Amino acid sequence: FTIKDIEVSVSCPSNIALIKYWGKYANQIPANPSISYTLNHCKTNTTMVFKADAPFEVKTFLAGKEEIQFAEKIKRYFQNIEPYLPWILKGSYTISTENTFPHSSGIASSASGFGAIAKCLVEIEQAFTTSHQPTAINQKASFLARLGSGSACRSLYNGLVVWGETPEVEGSSDLFAVPYPNDDIHPIFKNFNDWVLLIHEGQKSVSSTVGHGLMNTNPYAERRFQEARDNFVPLKDILKSGDMARFITLVEHEALTLHAMMMMSEPAFILMKTGTMEVINKVWNFRNETGLPLFFTLDAGANVHLLFPNNGEEDQIKSFIESELLQHTQKGGVVKDEMKF
Ligand code: PMV
Repeated sequence: FTIKDIEVSVSCPSNIALIKYWGKYANQIPANPSISYTLNHCKTNTTMVFKADAPFEVKTFLAGKEEIQFAEKIKRYFQNIEPYLPWILKGSYTISTENTFPHSSGIASSASGFGAIAKCLVEIEQAFTTSHQPTAINQKASFLARLGSGSACRSLYNGLVVWGETPEVEGSSDLFAVPYPNDDIHPIFKNFNDWVLLIHEGQKSVSSTVGHGLMNTNPYAERRFQEARDNFVPLKDILKSGDMARFITLVEHEALTLHAMMMMSEPAFILMKTGTMEVINKVWNFRNETGLPLFFTLDAGANVHLLFPNNGEEDQIKSFIESELLQHTQKGGVVKDEMKF
């Protein structure tokens, strides 16, 4: 076959983990299975122009501005995935990308960013091959996204998504993510809010690559990996039955464990800020006083993801957030996302 010049445009959302991936082996194999919600609004939109038979070159533009360092990173990524896309080094690429969420917000753009790039590559490949099986296409995009940024592989599907082999989820794999079976999810979990409080905007002090690496020498690592695996057993039951109280306990525990692992690394590091702690305490007080299902999770950063279902009680929760929690952000910053599926 001959490869023609091809232009593709895709969109890929970000995701937020409930059971966290923290620690990995060679070739982006996760030390434990993880599960996340794919967000509905925080997305990366990417256009890729592929010129076949040109010398291998990558140019990247972020919101219209050329980014040389990012291009170098993508070049290394393309060289890495050549075994799975044998044509990839036989052309040049112009990649234009923009995020629908604020740039320096600390909302992870690597998941949506690598998800979008992997999707583009698979679409380019589709343009000159004959097999068009949707499952295989998504699986390949998820596989390729994983090699860019582990958590990115979960962004290829909507709803609840699992990455990492677990006996609790049929078909789950360390190599790519799979959607959590829709029939096993109570409706309460299919209409949820994730309001991200931007506690600290800007670079974080320790990258997630370094953070994962520090799990190799963390004396609590094996215990933590086992705990994450074990957490899939109650979670399965919780998701099926709609047990919100147990869901909240599990999700908050996972978030705090992630940050506890950071504190117990050698050297130790802390990504939470004062505002993070203040918000957590206020959320706990609010829940104690009202019994309403407002809870949090954390990424590898200071921002707080406030989770709450759309179950008819959300107005009181929303006004509490607006009046009591926004003051703990740097500039009143909040990104209101949701998970509807
Ligand atoms: O995909 P990475 O290498 O940036 O790791 C992300 C890890 C966490 O966001 C902290 C947890 C997760 O499962 O997404």
